[in-house]
This record gives sequence, structure tokens and C-alpha cells, in this order.
Amino acid sequence: AAGQRQKQATLSEVLEKAGEAYRKQLRQSPAAIAYLKDRGLSGEIAREFGIGYAPPGWRTLAGVFPDYDDPLLAESGLVIAGEADENNEGKRYDRFRDRVMFPIRNVKGECIGFGGRVLGDEKPKYLNSPETPVFSKGRELYGLYEARAALRERGYALVTEGYMDVVALAQLGFPNAVATLGTACTTDHVQKLFRFTESVVFSFDGDAAGRRAARKALDGALPYATDVRSVKFLFLPADHDPDSFIREFGADAFARFVNEATPLSRFMVEVAREGCDLGSAEGRAHMASNARPLWSALPEGALKRQLLTEIAELVQLNAQELGELWLPPGAARP
Ligand code: GTP
Ligand code: MN
Ligand code: MN
Ligand code: MN
Ligand code: MN
Repeated sequence: AAGQRQKQATLSEVLEKAGEAYRKQLRQSPAAIAYLKDRGLSGEIAREFGIGYAPPGWRTLAGVFPDYDDPLLAESGLVIAGEADENNEGKRYDRFRDRVMFPIRNVKGECIGFGGRVLGDEKPKYLNSPETPVFSKGRELYGLYEARAALRERGYALVTEGYMDVVALAQLGFPNAVATLGTACTTDHVQKLFRFTESVVFSFDGDAAGRRAARKALDGALPYATDVRSVKFLFLPADHDPDSFIREFGADAFARFVNEATPLSRFMVEVAREGCDLGSAEGRAHMASNARPLWSALPEGALKRQLLTEIAELVQLNAQELGELWLPPGAARP
């Protein structure tokens, strides 16, 4: 275990050193600086988030690390080691080339990976570090380290979908923003957030993908929605994400969306009701069936009891009947 910890410390050192090199490269790369300026980023915010640039070369990091063949570089995800065979030990090359680099930090502030964005329209738009002993996409949140003080001061976290959302929000007055790393928000993410705040506002892009992401976040949040916590869902207008919205309409307009965000209970009922005709017995039964797993995932408490009553009314049963249907006497609680 001590050896494992030592290894992790070393991986973070390697990543930190690469991050410093990427920052130095950014200062010497007019095209990358122009890209960030064009997207509205100030130099100050770029420095705060440690944003850098990986140049187009295949082996830029060979100039940074004296031993480019060190297996640690491949293990860190910075270097890709090609297939080796008996004639060839496998060509090595930099994973990140010609990309704006966002360092991803753990809550201790150690660099654990990167997200890299192309300057143009090439695909893939973003490239993330692979899963490594120090980096797990399903657990880490971009910007959490940078946001930690603001989470206490503002009293809530804004959870977004993207790197640029976090940076733009921080620059324009919402330093309490974090992002999942191109994955759905998981229970692990939610659990981690609630170590820093009792209140979370999920902010989704106003597109179909954003709606799907909200559904997943609901599933992730339900088990943690205790009575002392607040979980809300914010839906931006179609074709906007927090970055584009706040740059076009400003911080006050974004704050209004935050204030009017949908509480978890309302969103849960909306999700259960979707596609059900409450004017028919079948539709009401269908809604009850949709609601059951959602409701069951909630922790015991006042909110859960109120939702039983609320859903019972919608499906035209009394709360006791619905409760018996969902929790038959003597049955194990789901
Ligand atoms: P910008 O165009 O820079 O504003 O990106 P965005 O953050 O608005 O991108 P989008 O809403 O399309 O995607 C949200 C997040 O999903 C991104 O921040 C990335 O973390 C991730 N993502 C987007 N495109 C890709 C991709 O091509 N590959 C991977 N691995 N992740 C992606
Ligand atoms: Mn994630
Ligand atoms: Mn999107
Ligand atoms: Mn965007
Ligand atoms: Mn987006």
C-alpha cells in the first residue's frame, strides 16, 4: 500500500510537470492564446485554472522528460506506447497534440489528468486522460479544487457538463461551478459533492443530450436527497450551455435561471409522469409504475413521505393504498 501511494505521488508529479510545460507552451503559442481570447477567457482566469497548450509535435514531452521511455509516462496517460513486437519495442508518442489543456486536480490540488480541446472543429473535440491509478472519470469533478472555497461561501454547487462552462462561470461571477468529465453524473460524483455543500444545482445544456444527462443525474442524486439537502435542476434554453448563455445574456440572467431551477421533487414527478395520460386509469397506473423505482431510491424522511402523498393524488389512490402497493406489508424494503 505504501508502494502504491508512492507510485501515485510520482504519477501526480509527472502530470504536474507536464502541466507546467503546457503552460509555458501556451505563452509561446499565439494561435492558442487567440483561441482562448476569442472564447472570452481572461489571462487571469486561464492562470487560475492552469490552462496550457500542447503543441502539434508528436514528441513534445521528450523535451520535458529526460527519459521519454520511462513507463511512468505511459502509465500517466501522457504518452501512448504503440504495440511492441519482436522487432520493435513500440513507438511512443504524446497523447495530447495541438490542444488547449485543462489540468484536472483532485481535492488535494494534485494534478491527476487533463482534458484537451482542439482549436478548431476536428474530432474528437475533447480528449481526456485515460483511467489511471490516480484518475477515474466516474469519480472526479473538474474544477472542484478551484471551487472549494466558493462552495462554502455561496452555499451551493453548480454542476455543469463541460470544462469551458466551469471556467466561463468562474470568470463571470459563479466560482462555485464544477463539471463532470464527459460522463453522466454518477452517485460517486454526488456523494463527493455533498462532502463540500448541502445544496447542488445541476445545470444542463438545452439539448436532447442535456435532458438525458439530467435523467442520469436524477438517478445519481435520489439516494442522497435527504431532508437537509437541496438538489435542483436547471435547464437552459435550447442551443445554450452555461458558457454560451452567460456570455450572451450575462450573469444576472443566469442567476435568474439558478433561482428558478426545478427542485428534485418536481423533476422526479415530471419524469415519472412523462408520456402518461392521467385522464385514463391505464395512464395513472403507468405513472405509478414509473414513479416506484424513483421514489424507492429516496432516503427515508419527510420528503419521501410527502412525495408518496403527492404521487398518490396524481394517480388517484390514497397514500395508504399506494404505500401498500409499493411496500406490501412484510415485504423487504426495496
Ligand atoms: P465547447 O465546444 O468547448 O464549448 O465544449 P462543450 O464543453 O460545450 O462541449 P459539449 O457540450 O459538446 O460536451 C460537454 C462535455 O463533454 C465536454 O466538456 C467534454 O468533457 C465532453 N466531450 C465533448 N465532446 C467530447 C469528445 O469528443 N470526446 C470526449 N471524450 N469528451 C467530449
Ligand atoms: Mn465524471
Ligand atoms: Mn451539449
Ligand atoms: Mn460549450
Ligand atoms: Mn456544452
